[in-house]
Amino acid sequence: MCGIIGYVGHQEAAPILLDGLERMEYRGYDSAGIAVRTIDGLQVKKSKGRLQVLSDMVRGGADLPGTLGIGHTRWATHGEPNDINAHPHVSEGGNIALVHNGIIENYMELKDYLMSKGVKFTSETDSEVVAQLLEFHYNECHDILEAVGRVLRRIEGSYALGIISSDMPDALIAARKDSPLILGYGADGNYIASDVTAVIKYTREVAYMDDGEIAVITPDGINVFTSEMDPVEKEHKTVDWDVSAAEKGGYPHFMFKEIMEQPDAIRRTVFPRIRDGRVVLDDITITKEYLDSVTKVFIVACGSSYHVGMVSKYNWERLLRRPVEVALASEFRYSDPLVDENSLVIIISQSGETLDTMAAMREAKRRGGRILAIVNVVGSSIAREADDVLYTWAGPEIAVATTKAYSTQLALMDLVGLYLADLEGTVSAEEYAAVVEELQLLPEKMEKVLEKKEDIQYFASRYFNHNSVFFIGRNLDYAMGMEGSLKLKEISYIHSEAYASGELKHGTISLVESGTLVVGLGTYVPLFDKAMSNVVEVKARGAEVLAVTVESMKEKMEKNADAIVAVPDTHLVVQPSLGIVPLQLFSYYVALMRGCDIDKPRNLAKSVTVE
Ligand code: F6R
Repeated sequence: MCGIIGYVGHQEAAPILLDGLERMEYRGYDSAGIAVRTIDGLQVKKSKGRLQVLSDMVRGGADLPGTLGIGHTRWATHGEPNDINAHPHVSEGGNIALVHNGIIENYMELKDYLMSKGVKFTSETDSEVVAQLLEFHYNECHDILEAVGRVLRRIEGSYALGIISSDMPDALIAARKDSPLILGYGADGNYIASDVTAVIKYTREVAYMDDGEIAVITPDGINVFTSEMDPVEKEHKTVDWDVSAAEKGGYPHFMFKEIMEQPDAIRRTVFPRIRDGRVVLDDITITKEYLDSVTKVFIVACGSSYHVGMVSKYNWERLLRRPVEVALASEFRYSDPLVDENSLVIIISQSGETLDTMAAMREAKRRGGRILAIVNVVGSSIAREADDVLYTWAGPEIAVATTKAYSTQLALMDLVGLYLADLEGTVSAEEYAAVVEELQLLPEKMEKVLEKKEDIQYFASRYFNHNSVFFIGRNLDYAMGMEGSLKLKEISYIHSEAYASGELKHGTISLVESGTLVVGLGTYVPLFDKAMSNVVEVKARGAEVLAVTVESMKEKMEKNADAIVAVPDTHLVVQPSLGIVPLQLFSYYVALMRGCDIDKPRNLAKSVTVE
């Protein structure tokens, strides 16, 4: 939700902190701040608004000389976005500065306690409580590490913390529970960050902190301890993607770059997993024997990842001939879910850190379910806690609205569905071969769709000022429409809804009037004629129809649509992977024409680590 960075070393800290925050701004962007230990003690600068405001305020870091510091970019939870609620928070005595990502659930109780001891607070945040509590315990024991230990035993909730103190000239302290934090080992100093993207410019050598761990970072090394202060040997990992993967590289927006990167992202995710026409999932250990013991299959996720689950439900039920239940993680976790030791639970998450998804996974695990996670961020919490993990190799996704992560999740779910169906013996050799072939052709066909971007831009220019949009379709088109609708609403702020075409007549069609924009989805060929009748129904009520269909149906569709985009035909299972591309582009261009902040839409953040 928020982004944290910390540096201690032989370089000036402030420019490194600002650079790291810029790379993590997608995590939160309502305010930002940095604290540097200067020769005059701790200096803190923070400001409401985008990072640029802060950067200008400190002249790119020149105003804060020092080689030890922490920084934060915020997505407000407790207290409105303003200068005071921005991090870092400083203790009343000015001795401690701290950045926090997560939520301290018992902060009110701790705040009351500290106030009863005379501590004065300045902000409305839960995070300031941690800074004040730390100073309170430090004043008791005069040992910062011991004080951190005492604080961690008292706070409840989730946290990634970066702490500096004027009494600790050469070290910063980090702690983590249920909120991501990585350690970076550099030649000129060492780092902490919420995300690898913040430090990749400086080092590729990282370690992932685990829950309950505390780290002491100095210019020459990093020591990690358990909550009982026993030393921990961390495994170092090398990040294998290039810094340019996290930069715009000449594209106007990350979202556009990531849309255009989809064919390559699919190649990376799919191609190594197909050998001699067979799906090979080296990373998982599911056997036929295990699958025979499975009585329930769940797919659990949030947002776009949930929409991947919706598409996969149709595909897996078709291939596996068994019921698949798809659940929103935020509902599933509190629904007393019917998971037991015979349940296979698929968890889908780009970030691997979404709190609701993680909690749902833990709940499923507690009940005995076996977890197979589909994750993009290597080393993320979900990836580490799942029984099996399959990575989507989409590369870093920076735009808040997901595109290439969604596409790679979808393709990977097709592979897994096919793999399981083959184990089960529920898919014919012909269908297996056809899906494999079409997955291999997918990047090329996607490129053909991307070539139509100017047509889609033109349609966006025709429709960008509509204020209400319906995405209608049947079966896989309905599931795909859910994602198309989310894309449009989240970045262009246009109200839109996805509807199963056949359901419209049961109430919602009353909202269709002259000029209502309906995106009619007709890529699911078996129900094309049915979907077409629903398009005709809305047209008859005055709707303007933008249709997305397959080339083989284009002519039929043309009769009833006002505008049409046709994507190449492929196997049914794979078709949504092509159909979604024009919907992503349409949302992008509409948002562009409405002057929206595409990569950082209002009220949102990339990684949702709060409930
Ligand atoms: C929408 C979007 C979100 C995420 C959701 C889950 O464009 O990106 O709906 O899909 O917050 O995030 P992950 O996949 O990281 O668990």
